[in-house]
Amino acid sequence: MTSIILKTQVHVVVISLLIQIAFSSQAKNDFDLNWSTIKSMVRITNRLGDGSTLNLHCKSSDDDLGLQILAPNGSWSFKFRPNIIFGVTLFSCHFTWPGQSKWFNIYDDDRDGVRKGIPCIYCIWDISKNGPCRFSERDDAFNICYDWNGNRRS
Ligand SMILES: *[C@@H]1O[C@H](CO)[C@@H](O)[C@H](O)[C@H]1NC(C)=O
Ligand SMILES: *[C@@H]1O[C@H](CO)[C@@H](O)[C@H](O)[C@H]1NC(C)=O
Repeated sequence: MTSIILKTQVHVVVISLLIQIAFSSQAKNDFDLNWSTIKSMVRITNRLGDGSTLNLHCKSSDDDLGLQILAPNGSWSFKFRPNIIFGVTLFSCHFTWPGQSKWFNIYDDDRDGVRKGIPCIYCIWDISKNGPCRFSERDDAFNICYDWNGNRRS
């Protein structure tokens, strides 16, 4: 009789331990893979290369990020929550420096989203006169380059 109770108690302890382990690893996975809280980042650096200040002003349909003024080699960044499900996030920026005025979509789900194009979570851009180049983690170089009209260039 006592041995049956003891066995039952041991079983209960073992089972509850297994349940705890299952739940804690479940919680850890959800923490790691919670796409509803993931944030993307865009960083923009002035690489005009002639000592010019770069002014930029980025907006999405929801957010106006204000005018930013970047000294030579200066950087600015912002974070946002990409729309993983619908993939409609678009941040457009107006870049100006002496004598020039250019527009570029610095984040476009069609081009940069996790399910399309060349995805980025950390979207690191160098702005030169020829156009923006994004950092490739695979190549460890700023070699994902675009013309100011948005076409890919090599
Ligand atoms: C992800 O995070 C949100 C906001 O903190 C939370 O409401 C949601 O339950 C989380 N999802 C999972 C699967 O843990
Ligand atoms: C900007 O960075 C480049 C490359 O590292 C460097 O050659 C240049 O002197 C820097 N310019 C300024 C103003 O710091």
